[in-house]
This record gives sequence, structure tokens and C-alpha cells, in this order.
Amino acid sequence: DYIIYNQELVPRSEATIQFDDRGYYFGDGIYEVAKIYEGKPFAMDLHLKRLRSSAEKLDMAFPFSETTMTELLLHLLQKNNVKNGLIYFQLTRGVEPRNHLYTRKSIPVFTAFTQPSQDLKDMQKNGIDVWLTDDIRWLRCDIKTLNLLGNVMVKRESADNGCQEAILNRDGFITEGSSSNLFLVKDKVLYTHPATNLILNGITRQVLINLAKKYDYKVVEEPFPVDVLEHADEAFITSTSVEIAPIKSVRGQLSANFEVGPVTKDLQNKFKELLP
Ligand code: PDD
Repeated sequence: DYIIYNQELVPRSEATIQFDDRGYYFGDGIYEVAKIYEGKPFAMDLHLKRLRSSAEKLDMAFPFSETTMTELLLHLLQKNNVKNGLIYFQLTRGVEPRNHLYTRKSIPVFTAFTQPSQDLKDMQKNGIDVWLTDDIRWLRCDIKTLNLLGNVMVKRESADNGCQEAILNRDGFITEGSSSNLFLVKDKVLYTHPATNLILNGITRQVLINLAKKYDYKVVEEPFPVDVLEHADEAFITSTSVEIAPIKSVRGQLSANFEVGPVTKDLQNKFKELLP
């Protein structure tokens, strides 16, 4: 098993990291997770675009071009012989003595690894239980940063309550999941939080919205209050790793139960058709 460190492929067992990397001190870095189907990364162009946008929002330079990055990532997939799985890649701001104030002189450090994806069959067919809790994260959730403590804390809280995902409530409105976006269905219309600073604009979310519109579903991107959950016909989450996972129950700050409904199933089938 190999990993990437800057522009080198290194055996995982021999990989080392610099002590003064700002990724360690400040979580000062950004990342992407892309899914590999039949040896090919899905929507890599959108992942690279989002990585570039995260870098710009954080005033972080790219150490080399997207083309080089893609070549390196494809090389890693080949080397690790990944047919189906996930590829994780990140940029930290680089190495310099610890100081909140960065100098703009460090060179960002690029790392990447591959890992198997989880078995999704049961989750996609029967759905998941989600835990509604407060969104305790910062106000730049649009940036895909390594700083994930808010997400990590609510994910643990949801698991400790027997759920597979945390759904987040900011000031009475639902934003997204701890590592996914949320959609509700009511009378065949899809509802999801708009891509503001309060959510990560998921690649799966973007692909799904385009797909739904193509098949004449109406998609409303507006914030909705938590109690709307009680009146929805169907609900599901989207992410690179779970694709589209129906929600069967909501617990925590509110209780609701859903069937895996026709709109969710239809969109799951149409999404599968996009995959290699
Ligand atoms: N998580 N919202 C948050 C907060 C996320 O962390 C993610 C992805 C998403 C969905 O985005 P996408 O469809 O681009 O995967 C939404 C990744 C998979 C992770 O952190 O592992």
C-alpha cells in the first residue's frame, strides 16, 4: 500500500510527516474525498474545483497544478490497484515554526491515500437513523478544511445514541449532516439548504440537484425550520461515501419516521446510472 507525500509515492509503512506542519498545530489545511468506481474517480473535476476554491478562501497557494495532481492521484490508484474505493487527498499550508500568523512563504504539503469503501447495500436499501442536534461548527462550513472537531463531536454523539449520522440544527434551521448533505421530499418537491457559508456544497449534492432537475423534479434550495422534518414524505442524505442514503428515523431534538419512498428510490436508481 502506497501513499503520496508531495510528489512522491511512498510505501505507507515508510511515510513520515514533518513535525512543524501547520496541519497539526492549527488544522490549517484542506481536503477532498473522491470515490473510485471501476478504477475511475467520480467527478474528479468537481473535487479539484472545490479544492481550489477552498485554497483560495484560505489564502493558500497550490504547490503544483491540477493536472499534476490528477496524474499523481491516478498513479496512486494504479499502484494500489484500486478498482472500487475511496481516495483521500489533502493540502496543508506547510511547515514553519508554530505561529498563528502564517507567512505566505511555506510551501503547501500534499498527501493522499486510498482506502476501501464500506458496503452500502443495507444502508441504501433500508435507510439510516439520524440524530438531530445543535450545529456547533464555525461560520465557514463552505470551506472543506481539516478542522473538523465540530463534525467529529456530533458524529460521536449520534453514534452513542445508536444513529449513523448527525443532522445539524443552527438556530432552528437544518443545515446538513456531520459528513453529508440533507434533502427532504414533500409532494415530489426536493428541499435542501442553499449553498451558503453554513454548509459544505457537496459534490454528490450538486450532481443530485442537476440530475433531479433533468428529470423534472422541482428543487427548492432554501433553509427550512427543523419541525418541517415531521411533515416531510421522505428524507435522505448524500455524500461521496454513502451516495444517497434514505433516512428511516430521526431522533434527538425531534422524532420522525420515514419509509424509503418512491422519489428517493427513483433518484438512487438514476444516480447509479451515472456511475461507470
Ligand atoms: N464528507 N457536508 C459535510 C460537512 C461533509 O463533510 C461532506 C463530505 C458532505 C458531502 O460532500 P460530498 O458529496 O462532496 O462528499 C457534506 C466527506 C465524504 C468526508 O469528510 O469524508
